[in-house]
This record gives sequence, structure tokens and C-alpha cells, in this order.
Amino acid sequence: MEHHEFHFPTWRHAARPKPPGGENGVAIRVRDLKVSFGTQHVMNGLDLDVYKGEVLGFVGASGMGESVLTRTILGLIPKHSGTIEVFGSDIDRLSPEARARIERRFDVMFQQGALFSSLTVKQNVQLPLREHLKISDRLADELALLKIALVGLSPDAAEKYPSELSGGMIKRAALARALALDPELVFLDEPTSGLDPIGAAEFDELIGTLQKTLGLTVFMVTHDLDSLYSICDRVAVLADGKVVAIGPIAAMLQCEHPWVKSYFQGERARRFIPGNAKERAPRAEIATPVTRTI
Ligand SMILES: Nc1ncnc2c1ncn2[C@@H]1O[C@H](COP(=O)(O)OP(=O)(O)OP(=O)(O)O)[C@@H](O)[C@H]1O
Ligand SMILES: [Mg+2]
Repeated sequence: MEHHEFHFPTWRHAARPKPPGGENGVAIRVRDLKVSFGTQHVMNGLDLDVYKGEVLGFVGASGMGESVLTRTILGLIPKHSGTIEVFGSDIDRLSPEARARIERRFDVMFQQGALFSSLTVKQNVQLPLREHLKISDRLADELALLKIALVGLSPDAAEKYPSELSGGMIKRAALARALALDPELVFLDEPTSGLDPIGAAEFDELIGTLQKTLGLTVFMVTHDLDSLYSICDRVAVLADGKVVAIGPIAAMLQCEHPWVKSYFQGERARRFIPGNAKERAPRAEIATPVTRTI
């Protein structure tokens, strides 16, 4: 399958700093990745670069393998062949110590949130702190509450168990846990799925703010067109086990790959296309006046 690469800036992203290129500007580099389950080849020669400091939106049809790619980069699913470099290091060639040092620099928010149901929000957020840092209980409490506040949860939520939280609160709590160790890179797997449009817009805004203020690199699997338009610097599209298109969102609108075309120019996507002013009503603009405390 042909690989479509685009470089021109978009009407929405022109004001943003261009992601730095070059060797030092790449957070994740994947080359010729193959991952199979029995006879099912989920990744089939996939190449991908994620630049430092960008929000990369990763899109594909459901079941195409977005979560598998995320888990493979994280080292949770074995690959058949290919290379994965994170912050310039091939993760297969590192000593356990060096690998642990790299792993400290990234974290993940899984598709289902994956909080421990028997622990409170605060205890969930403290888990990575306790695992990696030798700190007092008091400091662990303070740090956890800081992260909980950072994602917009009230201190009351800290003492609640996952079953006592709304879907949006679970997403925020999972994000707080992913941010516990101040990672440089976060993987978010469908962070806005299941949220109402206002909650999803708030979550997008939160991710965008954290990315800008903390200088995070964000690898975000999503099917949410609003998220792709509002916070992603670039979009990568997965089809047939490969990245078939990558670039700013405006480039996706010109891409001739059939799946990309139907996704970005199909019925649901029309309202986003410049010029369709009557139909275009980006969610973030609708949600701006709404303030809410969770
Ligand atoms: N551990 C596993 N063992 C066997 N097959 C798996 C495993 N994990 C995923 N798969 C298969 O790999 C394919 C891709 O799964 P994946 O979870 O990546 O889908 P996805 O693209 O993230 O879908 P969705 O958008 O619905 O979350 C599916 O066919 C799935 O059944
Ligand atoms: Mg998935």
C-alpha cells in the first residue's frame, strides 16, 4: 500500500510550532514492524515516527490494531520483527537497567482506564510512585493529590473507589495515574470514548493544556474526529497493518487512500471540512462557555 506523507501546514495548525525534526526530535521510531497472532498479521511492515512535543492522533478502523501497536511499543506484546526506538534507543537492545530508565520516561492510559477496583483514586495514582520512588507516605499523598488536581478532579474524588466514579472521572483518574511520574511521553488509548460531547471537549482541552504546559509528547489512539481536529498536530492512519497516511489533518482531506477518504470526507466528517460553514460546528467552540466541576 502506498504511503502518503504530507508536510504543509493546515489552516488550524498554522500558528503552532512545527514539530522538531531530525534525530533528536523523534520520541518514537518504528520501522518495518510485524506483529502476528497465529495466522493473523496485525502489523505488517509498519513504519511510524512520533515527534517530541507533538500530539499525534492515531486512527484506524475498529479491530485494525491501534491498541496492539500501543501495547507492542510498550513492550506488552511481542513483535515478530522490526525495530522500535523510544527516545533514540532500540528497546530490544537495552540492558534491564537502561530499559527501566527509558520506561520511567513514558506512561500509558489504557482503553478501559484499568484502575484497580479495590484501591481508591489516590491509591491508584500512588501505585507508580510507590513502585519507582522511595518516598514517605506524606509525600506520596501530596504528590497524588497534586496529580488529581492537575486533571481537574476534586479532592473528594481522591478517596473514592472506581465503582463510585463516572466514566469521565475514571478517564481523569487514569490520566492522573499516567502522569504520576512526570512522564515526557504519554500513550492515550481512546481517551474520550464513552464521554458526552462536553466531557470529551473538556478532556481534549485538558490534554492540550498539559501538552503545552508540560511539553508532553502525546500518542493518542482515537476515533473522535473532534479530538483529531482540536488537539492533534498530526494524524497517522492505520490500515492493512501499515501507516497508510500521516500528516496534518488538512492533508488527510486530500488523501486518496479509500479508507482515509471515507473517514475524513464521509458523511460524519463533512461538517469539519473548511467551507462547509453551515454544518461546521467544532465541539470545542460549543463547549467553551460551559464550566463544570467534577
Ligand atoms: N492478545 C491477543 N491475542 C490474540 N489476538 C489479539 C490480541 N490482542 C488483539 N488481538 C487481535 O488483534 C486485532 C487488533 O486488536 P486491537 O485491540 O488492536 O484493535 P483496535 O484497532 O484497537 O480496535 P478498537 O478500535 O475497537 O479498540 C483484533 O483482531 C484482535 O482480536
Ligand atoms: Mg483499541
